[in-house]
Amino acid sequence: MRVTIIGSGYVGLVTGACLAETGNTVVCMDKDADKTTSLKNGHVPLHEPGLAPLVQKNLAEGRLTFTTDLRLAVRHAPVIFLAVGTPPRPNGEADLSAVEEAARAIGGYMDDAKVIVTKSTVPVGTAERVKALISEGTSHHVAVVSNPEFLKEGTAVQDFMRPDRVIVGSDDAQAISLLRSLYAPFMRREDRLLVMDARSAELTKSAANSMLAMRISFMNEMAALCERIGANVENVRHGLGSDSRIGNSFLFPGTGFGAASSANILMGRPLRFGVLPSNPAPMTCAKPTLSRSSRDCWSAGPPSGSPIQQPWTEGG
Ligand SMILES: NC(=O)c1ccc[n+]([C@@H]2O[C@H](COP(=O)([O-])OP(=O)(O)OC[C@H]3O[C@@H](n4cnc5c(N)ncnc54)[C@H](O)[C@@H]3O)[C@@H](O)[C@H]2O)c1
Repeated sequence: MRVTIIGSGYVGLVTGACLAETGNTVVCMDKDADKTTSLKNGHVPLHEPGLAPLVQKNLAEGRLTFTTDLRLAVRHAPVIFLAVGTPPRPNGEADLSAVEEAARAIGGYMDDAKVIVTKSTVPVGTAERVKALISEGTSHHVAVVSNPEFLKEGTAVQDFMRPDRVIVGSDDAQAISLLRSLYAPFMRREDRLLVMDARSAELTKSAANSMLAMRISFMNEMAALCERIGANVENVRHGLGSDSRIGNSFLFPGTGFGAASSANILMGRPLRFGVLPSNPAPMTCAKPTLSRSSRDCWSAGPPSGSPIQQPWTEGG
């Protein structure tokens, strides 16, 4: 199948390379000309195990190409993944300007029906917003599918190739069937595709981020309590995580994930889930996820000598 990815960053590049590896003809479009030139030459600007060889192989075999030409990218494929950044604004809201810019531009270049797949982490209601923006520029049929990404930096290729689950949110049967066939090679052993409506898919991603942030915040509280009462947080973590109902993941104290949500939880403030108003004009939505800077900080690992150990990071 022909596939287009808009945004050749972490998520877009992993998605593009993995979909090319399973035989699709993938065009990755990014507005960053320097990044695109590097990628065309096989230079992968990310330290992600297995990604560079995958990109280089699929480039060489002609299944993966990079461009800054949005018109070409839109017309290349019936399915277009949106994987542009949605960084948090200072007030915690998600900045959707890149998603909106891309959506408007896609509408202007469409010459056929398209399935648009939102991979970016976005507030509830964004699929409807994206559809409305694209439809302003075209009379062709647009189906928008919410397909949030759950990869972890450090194991991104492996996470994409062997996903815990793939969430597909849409009420368009044809679009769902198209995504089912795109993801089929990654679920040979077990069908892990969860189909739901777009709003539920969008909220699932925010809920997952918040749940993980909450676990780290809880462990920060435990670490503080251990210091006060003379207990050892490592022993507590081990004892707690050995309970099969609780599990070991995301039980390391630290600031590595979901800083905004963690702070809210720690300070007893209610969690805010981003929901776009039905009237698309104002965008007052919180994105319960971490800032790029804290993510980068953890990608580099905890400071040396730090008692905090966080072997992996989860992306936005
Ligand atoms: N990185 C992760 O681990 C991770 C995990 C899950 C979800 N996500 C989410 O996925 C989305 C993408 O994250 P990322 O880490 O890949 O971001 P990134 O910053 O690495 O990449 C985004 C890319 O989009 C490009 N871009 C921005 N606006 C564009 C436009 N209008 N047209 C074309 N290209 C444009 C940028 O140049 C950049 O290369 C975000 O919403 C993020 O929250 C990230």
